[in-house]
Amino acid sequence: MNYPKECWYVAATSDEVGEGFTARRIVDRPVVLFRLSDGSIAALEDRCAHRPYPLSAGHREGDLVVCGYHGCTYDATGRCVRVPSQDNPPSGAQVRAFRVVERGPFVWVWTGTAGGERLRPPPSTPWLQGDGWSSVGERRDVAANLLLLHEHYLDLTNVFEMHPELVPPGIEALPPLEEVEVSEVSVSYTRELPKAPLAPWEAQVSGLDSAESYGRKETGAFVTPGLHKQTYTITGSDGPELELVRTHGFTPESSGATHVFLQISWRGTAVAPDAGTQLAAVFHEMANRDIAVLETMQRCLDEDTTPRRYFNVKADRAAVRARRILTSMVEDERGPHHP
Ligand code: FES
Repeated sequence: MNYPKECWYVAATSDEVGEGFTARRIVDRPVVLFRLSDGSIAALEDRCAHRPYPLSAGHREGDLVVCGYHGCTYDATGRCVRVPSQDNPPSGAQVRAFRVVERGPFVWVWTGTAGGERLRPPPSTPWLQGDGWSSVGERRDVAANLLLLHEHYLDLTNVFEMHPELVPPGIEALPPLEEVEVSEVSVSYTRELPKAPLAPWEAQVSGLDSAESYGRKETGAFVTPGLHKQTYTITGSDGPELELVRTHGFTPESSGATHVFLQISWRGTAVAPDAGTQLAAVFHEMANRDIAVLETMQRCLDEDTTPRRYFNVKADRAAVRARRILTSMVEDERGPHHP
């Protein structure tokens, strides 16, 4: 296991969870999510306690879940309340129920040690919950490890090779990271770009005058193992004209696969009426290229029979810190309390 288990991760987006079952592998566990009659969301281990059969292959009976094999029935807390072939369920018959928090477009789940979630709530994401912001999003499943994803999105110097058409005209290289802030559990960086005209996508989305030059400020943050946040602000002479936030919910499915919950949020002075459609298309194509590289790196790692050492450059500073934090979190969890 090379990712932390004691962590809130995004299990689904709100609109994915309804009356039917949403089954997903999270932190190497089968989980089934469904919405209860009061509108809240339940998350249960997706395995019947009677035999190894997924509850998601059964059906709902009100707020109860009926297993599709012999009909054992569970309530939303995971307690078995009915066994059709006998009067009472065996004592202690139960599947695990996971804590869930629904916030903005994300449904967070805690699959770590029961009770551990009380010590740390899921990260707050006010920009995904209105306050002048609009958002669009999508979910991707990536055959790459969580750490590769965090490192990739903490170093954007790959844009010149991977996404050259997105770079503002005249910018030949990204300036060095101005500030890398590190706490015990998070890393963030800031970088400012010299004034430059708008790239075609920036002009289409922002509604700004293409004849002008603008500054850009970019920040990236490893907030938790389950959340990466990047901001991109286009600034004119009167201040910020267009603010973008790219949010990635990263949720390990297994050590070689990660669910990615991508949200693009924006607000600005003159944004185009179809900004959402345009941004969704731009960032979808970016994600396609990112995923191709990430999955190739994972294949290279899998093929290497002996571990290799790769060199680091200055632009890797934030990524290297994030790797250290993740590694030490995993080592802490392997301590005496988490064998
Ligand atoms: S396997 Fe679920 S009821 Fe038997």
